[in-house]
Amino acid sequence: AARAAFPLLDMGPSAAQIAPGDMAATDLWTFNGTLPGTEIRHAQGERFQWRVTNNLPDPTAVHWHGIRIENAMDGVPGLTQEPIPPGGSFDYDFALPDAGTHWYHSHAQSVEQVERGLYGALIVEEPEAPDVDADLTLVIDDIRLGRDAQITADFDNLHDRAHAGRIGNVVLTNGAPEARFEVARNARLRLRIINAANARIFTLGLMGLDGWVMALDGMPLAEPRKVVDPLTLAPAQRVDLFVDVTSDEAEAFLLHFDRTGGYAQASFTVTPGGNARRDAPKPLPPNPEFPIDLANAVPQRVLLEGGAMRGLAEARLDGEMLSGRELAQRGMVWAINAQAGRDATPLLEVALGQSVRLGMANDSAFPHAMHLHGMHFAEVLPDGGLGPLRDTILLGPDETKEVAFAAHNPGDWLFHCHMLGHHAGGMGSFIRVT
Ligand code: C2O
Ligand code: CU
Ligand code: CU
Repeated sequence: AARAAFPLLDMGPSAAQIAPGDMAATDLWTFNGTLPGTEIRHAQGERFQWRVTNNLPDPTAVHWHGIRIENAMDGVPGLTQEPIPPGGSFDYDFALPDAGTHWYHSHAQSVEQVERGLYGALIVEEPEAPDVDADLTLVIDDIRLGRDAQITADFDNLHDRAHAGRIGNVVLTNGAPEARFEVARNARLRLRIINAANARIFTLGLMGLDGWVMALDGMPLAEPRKVVDPLTLAPAQRVDLFVDVTSDEAEAFLLHFDRTGGYAQASFTVTPGGNARRDAPKPLPPNPEFPIDLANAVPQRVLLEGGAMRGLAEARLDGEMLSGRELAQRGMVWAINAQAGRDATPLLEVALGQSVRLGMANDSAFPHAMHLHGMHFAEVLPDGGLGPLRDTILLGPDETKEVAFAAHNPGDWLFHCHMLGHHAGGMGSFIRVT
């Protein structure tokens, strides 16, 4: 039987007016010609079936970040699939078990490809829409523009890699430096905020409005949490907020800015509206569970090291032990457990169904946003309980955190820093579940 054609997600060059009007349009690489790419929406339980076509000059692959996906569809070139060559295409076809705010992005030469604009929102809708008046997606990014309004091509810059990563000089919300939204007074908004930046950590403030954290990294919280400013969003992290537009002065009420003082905002113009709500929101419905068996979990540790200031004494690269200087000559400045970059050997091998406690120690002067593909982890809290399920966890300089996960998904799963230059510079390995 002939199969119905999949809708297309075309990766190719495009341009957008990002710098002030009299300056040149900025050349981008996007999905389907827009920044962010097409917002993909499916109902929970539906199959995702899209054909990715590559009209870029370079090979690529697309990762569906946050989806507990089957391994062959995970989009990691050289690990889960062959790269899609220029002119080629790949049919992505997989189940969508988890409702939530997820996203998709290029997973090849990602410092460059994500910076040039290859990302978009992937929304999986709950079976019953929650009681809100508006559902808005805000994809936040920062890009580095030169005086010619073009993205600077210094993607392999070793200095960025060894420091905080590639930090841009223009902050974008949904592709625009000045994002504006119109909302009704007294509306309850669902804001789906996605950090698509290469390396920038955003903090978010609500200027005194009532808000609740409903989900983190797409996974619903068992109980909504009242927002206490500021909310930190590391690269790749997502937050679903419900916000009540109650303040009379609420003209521009969502701010985002980062720790180093870079500042931007999305402004909301408030139009007259109905009656204020008084009730706190009910939690979003839970996703299927893969319970973590903490009592029987295997303990494992990972040491994250390298970067400017401390450097690497030595580490393995492709099976060879090299000095820090030799590694740096090959662009490698980070290591996980003394292994720089991914080679044929997994960081861990775990039996399917086993739970793992993973102690992560950051022995460096920079933060890292550690992301696990294919499964979610939860932080082990000081009281011995588990925090919410997430797919990306931020570790500050010298910080140690312990997470736990249930190895419920067979395959080779990337484990890497989502500060993309850190990943390119060696902070990426994989976990094998068999
Ligand atoms: Cu969102 Cu391996 O990445
Ligand atoms: Cu991912
Ligand atoms: Cu990092």
